[in-house]
Amino acid sequence: MKIEYPMDEVASEQLGREVYANEFVPRDFFSAQTPADLFNRDAPIELDLGCGDGSFLIQLAERYPERNFLGVERLLGRVKKVCKKAHRAGLKNVKVLRLETLYTVEWLLPKESFHRVHLICPDPWPKERHHKHRLMQAPFFRAVYDLLTSDGEFLFRTDHEEYYKWSVEKMADFPEFLTIPWEEGDFFYPKSDFQLQWEALGKKLHNLRCLKGDVM
Ligand SMILES: C[S@@+](CC[C@H](N)C(=O)[O-])C[C@H]1O[C@@H](n2cnc3c(N)ncnc32)[C@H](O)[C@@H]1O
Repeated sequence: MKIEYPMDEVASEQLGREVYANEFVPRDFFSAQTPADLFNRDAPIELDLGCGDGSFLIQLAERYPERNFLGVERLLGRVKKVCKKAHRAGLKNVKVLRLETLYTVEWLLPKESFHRVHLICPDPWPKERHHKHRLMQAPFFRAVYDLLTSDGEFLFRTDHEEYYKWSVEKMADFPEFLTIPWEEGDFFYPKSDFQLQWEALGKKLHNLRCLKGDVM
């Protein structure tokens, strides 16, 4: 059944394709956005990088209606899927941006504006010659650090043990972030369908929680 979406006609014209309710399309992809460009209300913003089918993002948004949530995803089909889910659920606090993660965090999004940044099960690039493509290294850490508010935090979860260990080592070389313990159940943190499938196979997820600023 086709859902009728309120279309953003200007954005649709700009991109030459359908643009969906809950999709965020910057008017200019080469200018840094302001928080007001992202959401039309002043509220804490969380960022989900590589949001996939949106099952994590939507659960968070339903649980915390007083916060805003921006998902970033490079695959158009997935962006559409998340937009549909958000629209069906009547969520006004979710937006989805179709763009590449590193460009988005380094150049597009407003600094010191995000309370939490989530990176959940990103591509582990398992072959050694591809490690240079992994997000979890200094340029990405710097960009995420700069996006966070002074009390903000960065949360990373992976199903790939070797990538997890590699990431912990890279994070140790970035002392601006303070790594703190994160046990299952410490706070509400929903699992995506991808994570549930992984755990159903008896596999483990690895967590890394990094604070910006001084917690003393
Ligand atoms: C393994 S899936 C995990 C999705 C979701 N975080 C979850 O836990 O269910 C990784 C997602 O990141 C997206 N992705 C991978 N590299 C990306 C990039 N450089 N920029 C934006 N999205 C990316 C993929 O298209 C995919 O949807």
